[in-house]
Amino acid sequence: MLRRILPDPAELALDELYAGLTLDHPRAGRPTHVAVSMVSSADGAVAVEGLSGGLGGAADLRALSRLRAANDVSLVGAGTVRDEGYVPLTGSAERRADRAARGLRPVPRLAIVTASGALEPDLAVFSDPAEPPLVLTARSADTRHLAAIEDRAEIHVVAEAELDAEVIVTTLAELSLPRVLCEGGPRLNQVMLAGGHLDELFLTLAPTLVGGPVARIIAGAQEAATDLELVSVFEHEGDLLLRYRRR
Ligand SMILES: NC(=O)c1ccc[n+]([C@@H]2O[C@H](COP(=O)([O-])OP(=O)(O)OC[C@H]3O[C@@H](n4cnc5c(N)ncnc54)[C@H](OP(=O)(O)O)[C@@H]3O)[C@@H](O)[C@H]2O)c1
Repeated sequence: MLRRILPDPAELALDELYAGLTLDHPRAGRPTHVAVSMVSSADGAVAVEGLSGGLGGAADLRALSRLRAANDVSLVGAGTVRDEGYVPLTGSAERRADRAARGLRPVPRLAIVTASGALEPDLAVFSDPAEPPLVLTARSADTRHLAAIEDRAEIHVVAEAELDAEVIVTTLAELSLPRVLCEGGPRLNQVMLAGGHLDELFLTLAPTLVGGPVARIIAGAQEAATDLELVSVFEHEGDLLLRYRRR
């Protein structure tokens, strides 16, 4: 059973979690609307033994599916693609139909951010020729790496080295992909927060402790304190699903 705690407390079926969710269109003067989606342990860790999969339960998976039903593009750092074994975001027939009915492309684009270009061509993420991911990269990337994936990805060289948030969102907006779901990891999240382009946060807090040196959901050298407004809270099997919006 899913409990909605805020707003309007109610007991619901899990399938009702974020049913019909839409992601906001960018506000006037902003190129994109960026929602970040992350799962963390109660002590703030983003992974167990290097993977986030051990943290979230059924509700976290449902939330991610609902978010991917509503976005134009999933944005992800190369570290997460390498660590988590990303696959193309084809989704179920039901999700593709649902997206099409909302006027969205049946499958969201996937955009991978990398400064090194070090993405092996045999990664699963490149396995669907019909859905080549976007690779947003820089002149610092090794040209041999980029040559190895050029027939499997749509490569955009848009910076000298590390991409800042402004160049990421501008590039996505120019590609007509304004509703962005940022799926991490922590270092990419830091760039989006520090650049003022983290508009919303969907955070699943799992009832577990991890300890150790594992990263928090946003990790970088500089603090970038930002106030959030709590929009909704759900509970399912001890998982808390929190939706925040930047004030
Ligand atoms: N709990 C969760 O919801 C969740 C979600 C995602 C990831 N994770 C976990 O987070 C860990 C990975 O963390 P991470 O911080 O290394 O992830 P990350 O941000 O995905 O990866 C960092 C790498 O991504 C590229 N990158 C990120 N931002 C960039 C930018 N602005 N410009 C250029 N390149 C950029 C760089 O790749 P290059 O080295 O190729 O230049 C960088 O080394 C894994 O353990 C994963 O399981 C957890």
